[in-house]
Amino acid sequence: MGDTAKIAARSKKLFIKTYGCQMNVYDSGRMADVLAPLGFSSTDRPDDADMVILNTCHIREKASEKVFSDLGRLRVLKTGRVTAGRDMIIAVAGCVAQAEGAEIMARAPFVDIVLGPQTYHRLPEMVARAARSRDEAGMPQSRRGVLDTEFPAEPKFDHLPAPKADGPTAFLSVQEGCDKFCTFCVVPYTRGSEYSRPAADILREARGLVAGGAREITLLGQNVNAYHGAGPEAAVSWNLGRLIRELAEIDGLARIRYTTSHPRDMDDDLIAAHRDVPQLMPFLHLPVQSGSDKILAAMNRGHGRDDYRRIVYKLKEVRPDMALSSDFITGYPGETDRDFDDTLELVNEIGFVQSFSFKYSPRPGTPAAILKPQVADEVKAARLHILQQVLDAQLRHFNTSCVGRTFDVLLTGRGRNPGQLVGRSPYLQAVHVLADPAYVGAIVSLTVVSVEAYSLGAVWADSRASRPRTQAAHA
Ligand code: SAH
Ligand code: SF4
Ligand code: F3S
Repeated sequence: MGDTAKIAARSKKLFIKTYGCQMNVYDSGRMADVLAPLGFSSTDRPDDADMVILNTCHIREKASEKVFSDLGRLRVLKTGRVTAGRDMIIAVAGCVAQAEGAEIMARAPFVDIVLGPQTYHRLPEMVARAARSRDEAGMPQSRRGVLDTEFPAEPKFDHLPAPKADGPTAFLSVQEGCDKFCTFCVVPYTRGSEYSRPAADILREARGLVAGGAREITLLGQNVNAYHGAGPEAAVSWNLGRLIRELAEIDGLARIRYTTSHPRDMDDDLIAAHRDVPQLMPFLHLPVQSGSDKILAAMNRGHGRDDYRRIVYKLKEVRPDMALSSDFITGYPGETDRDFDDTLELVNEIGFVQSFSFKYSPRPGTPAAILKPQVADEVKAARLHILQQVLDAQLRHFNTSCVGRTFDVLLTGRGRNPGQLVGRSPYLQAVHVLADPAYVGAIVSLTVVSVEAYSLGAVWADSRASRPRTQAAHA
């Protein structure tokens, strides 16, 4: 019996903890898929697991540190299980694995497998190797670690099973990696250079997701709008606008989103797709990082504040209800009060409905980490606080302005309270409504009646529509 077949003989539990961005969420799903033929099914309890994968994020220092504290807890869990005569395979995947693989092996020798984001298709083989060295050594504790942080020539997507839909919303990775080298960012080092999947593979995966019940697909990429995959007529590559237009032809795919975009790649064709494709939702996460031209240049972003403003106005021209979201960094090296005021001014002009903002975190190996002078932590924190107050007020203002409005909501699952379902507005707000569970997967017309901390409360726009449904809901 081969190693893989031997391992598949028993059914086992897999616990995956995912940190970081949506691409990691997508990848965690793929890792679960590729391990399923080995007999692994998912559990949400690490203490119940035969295998634990930490799918990690390296973007800021705090994110990386969490991995080592989680590993400390896992070591205790693993020791307890081994003492009780059971085993636990621990794997570290994702961007910390890519950046600090050897260090993880040295600091945490109880880790069995360290694998970078481009090698997930090789995971079954790594599990077999880890088990084999355990058999040879006789004791699980002395198992030799498997480290694979290569950037293999063969794209992992060609070797991973097609994902199955898991509810009405799905992620679909279309592009990976980054060649932009913003001076603060680790992604070009952890994910490697830009790669776009062939359009035909994406269309096939999308059709499969829709056939499985997905009604909304979010196209993913670290630089999703830099997409330039081979079209079906090989010689011609497709840009993201073209890909979206073709996806919109799929029967039953009601909503399309894409994230994360870079302002430099927001071309006119993609902007026009927001005018032409009704399935494309009027919400865009378009990180600007700073409103100061001096800081944007120092960050190597390749665009100024006016370029950003122009893009936003073009988008609003073709889709007046377009809502924007952004990421911000405060206290990049050399940022003065004046630069920070430029950021506040841009925020006030654009008005964001959602945002993520962070203190600048120096990352090892990135150019900005060794710039002098760095901004004092208290200053970064004070600016972050001011910025977040403004951004929070904008979010609240937008949510409040939705009260009384009626829009289409895709119901995605059960809400917090009994009898409630939760769904997504076109602007990606969470919306709660009293509804029969059979409506999960339906797109329904709801009127917003209240604003809570992180969601909206709504009632059925047409009260007759809310009657219980007994069969699968398809609006
Ligand atoms: N590709 C996307 C961003 C990916 S990283 C883009 O170009 O916008 C997600 C966010 O993390 C970034 O937008 C940035 O705001 C933040 N980030 C990245 N590196 C950081 C660092 N060193 N310190 C603080 N925030 C950082
Ligand atoms: Fe990082 Fe810049 Fe690439 Fe975004 S575009 S992933 S911020 S290097
Ligand atoms: Fe983090 Fe890697 Fe995503 S560093 S944000 S998990 S690409």
